[in-house]
Amino acid sequence: MADLAHARAAFQGRSVVSADDFSKDDIIALLDAARQYDRFQDDGPTWAGIEPSLQGRVLGVLFFEPSTRTRLSFESAMLRLGGSVLGFADANISSFSKGETLVDTIRVVEGYCDAVVLRHPREGAARLAAEVASVPILNGGDGSNQHPTQTFLDLYTIRQAAGTLDGLKVGFMGDLRYGRTVHSLATALLHFDVNLKFIGPENLSLPPDLRDHLVAQDRLDAEVESLADAGDLDVLYVTRIQQERFPDPMDYQRVRNAYRVDRESLAPFGPDLKVLHPLPRVNEVATEVDDLPGALYFQQSRNGVTVRMALLDLILGAQGGGESA
Ligand code: CP
Repeated sequence: MADLAHARAAFQGRSVVSADDFSKDDIIALLDAARQYDRFQDDGPTWAGIEPSLQGRVLGVLFFEPSTRTRLSFESAMLRLGGSVLGFADANISSFSKGETLVDTIRVVEGYCDAVVLRHPREGAARLAAEVASVPILNGGDGSNQHPTQTFLDLYTIRQAAGTLDGLKVGFMGDLRYGRTVHSLATALLHFDVNLKFIGPENLSLPPDLRDHLVAQDRLDAEVESLADAGDLDVLYVTRIQQERFPDPMDYQRVRNAYRVDRESLAPFGPDLKVLHPLPRVNEVATEVDDLPGALYFQQSRNGVTVRMALLDLILGAQGGGESA
């Protein structure tokens, strides 16, 4: 297990804007630190014994786009650690609707809390916020760009299920162009000895800068349009086609049902295939897949609490928190 002191040094007081900002050692240290918060058992979570290390600390949640998991798992994590949460229920009833800029909003809200989770439709919004804020900014998703805390819980889930992050063949399927979870996770996986494959329609292929980065590192192992052409896989990371990002609604109509997995299409990969999805799903994973042992997406969403507890404690806590003696 990596040194908790390394984890605290890497994260304390720091913004989380992009997965690229963290080294392999930083990420491993975070995933190791998160193990102590892994309380989900078959009969439900048991939170007894967790030290309320963030008592008196306040987390601001500024969501300018819809969310279920990111917002609620951050809120749950903060509350489990004894802290408090504030935020508006809907950005349209904040002063954003009167024309207040993001920079002014951040400059105001930083006076009310100790850290801010920000979700915003504009790429680069989290970086801009982190540049002006005096408190850590946690990127909860900025447009099609990045979703780094999702990446941390994705890595945690893969390692939990496979026992390792090395030696795996990982396939990304669906919206490779607009899917920020794909961009974050693929970048972070470059730290590990993995084989990266991308499955999607040509008009939703990887953004050129990410594709060039993967090619330059000789890590683009396959780009195919059909899952059947992907070859062996240990992990299949399915994503929703991001309807809200399409400039032309007709382009969405053309691909909306093209990428869907069911038991039949997954059968060739064998029973050990791990299926992840950041959720929400629309129709790209048939519900009949949910009962397969490798269907990890609900466990993945629960791990959002586990990993975000560790992250918040490392960023905001004084000593490392965790279980009381
Ligand atoms: N995975 C994820 O970001 O889900 P939400 O959009 O519900 O937060």
